[in-house]
Amino acid sequence: MRILAIESSCDETAAAVVENGRTVLSNVIASQVEEHKLYGGVVPEIASRRHAEAVSAVTQKALSDAGLTLREIDAVAVTYAPGLIGALLVGVNYAKSLAYAAKLPLIPVHHLRGHVAANYLSHPDLEPPFLCLVVSGGHTHLVEVKDYTTFSVIGKTRDDAAGEALDKAARAMGLPYPGGLHLDRMAASGNPAAFRFPVPRVDGAPLDFSFSGLKTSVLNQLHNAAQKGETLCLPDLGASFLASVVHILCDHTARAAVQSGCKTVVLAGGVSANSVLRREMAALCKKRGWRLCLPELPLCGDNAAMIGAQGYYEAKAGVCADLSLNAFATLPIEQPFGNPTSERSVSI
Ligand code: KG4
Ligand code: ZN
Repeated sequence: MRILAIESSCDETAAAVVENGRTVLSNVIASQVEEHKLYGGVVPEIASRRHAEAVSAVTQKALSDAGLTLREIDAVAVTYAPGLIGALLVGVNYAKSLAYAAKLPLIPVHHLRGHVAANYLSHPDLEPPFLCLVVSGGHTHLVEVKDYTTFSVIGKTRDDAAGEALDKAARAMGLPYPGGLHLDRMAASGNPAAFRFPVPRVDGAPLDFSFSGLKTSVLNQLHNAAQKGETLCLPDLGASFLASVVHILCDHTARAAVQSGCKTVVLAGGVSANSVLRREMAALCKKRGWRLCLPELPLCGDNAAMIGAQGYYEAKAGVCADLSLNAFATLPIEQPFGNPTSERSVSI
């Protein structure tokens, strides 16, 4: 089954063709990073407008790179939640038009389920059940992936996502957007033991995360130094902050693996590209005798190949949308498709 997938939940307009959920025939991404960099973060209206401009050409290129025409495609998959609502609606409406014009099934895909599925492309033998740490710009979840379409969140952040904390700390250190990536590069030359940070705990919920205290601590250290006219060694500060975030992520993942009994640990989302996280998680899993799966670097960030991979398993589970498909800014990863929070049905 060949799926043409479209992703537009944030600042990448992406389209891909994926066969049987495992083989990438094409994967095209038009990034808006350079434009959002001017503002230090994603500007939602600009993101929507750029998606509207790019989605058609990106989709045509995905088909031509795969050497296929729309007639040779079996279904259209699209990210319908969560994300920036205006950005999502561009992809959803485009996918609807394609599905209607080509008389193809339309498969709605949850963005975070897509991030998990990026691992099916990088690890052809990977199958559920497994434990997945989903770390993106907006989410930090520990998820038991029970089967391809059944998820159970056993830990999540109570405030900032890990990526958000890294981005805000990086911005305060004067690094460009996207902060997490630049912090990773700068931290490579710093001493991770130079600064100390609090280790946050959520009372009664040992698998839940809290990163806002850690973020405030780094901001305070920067402000205090500025007020005293001191200059901090930013590579040391960045390396220490990153080490603290990674320590928390690894510690919680280890607890979750023990609690769930999962012997396979999987990472997903943009922050899974982080070099320190990849290294420390590999060391942890080696020590405990667990298998670790990481997405290949080009599949860590937002892309449509991951949507095509998950779309295949959603389709196999019977998930299909009609032309009333809506987009949602927030939606739990566990929630089965069904236009559940659609405000109203349209009477004509
Ligand atoms: O999954 P993603 O591309 O978009 C969302 O769904 O949110 O994740 C974006 C996040 C941003 O916070 C970005 O700073 C972070 O991933 N990121 C990184 C690295 N590359 C991207 N964080 C740490 N180290 C990296 N190498
Ligand atoms: Zn993402």
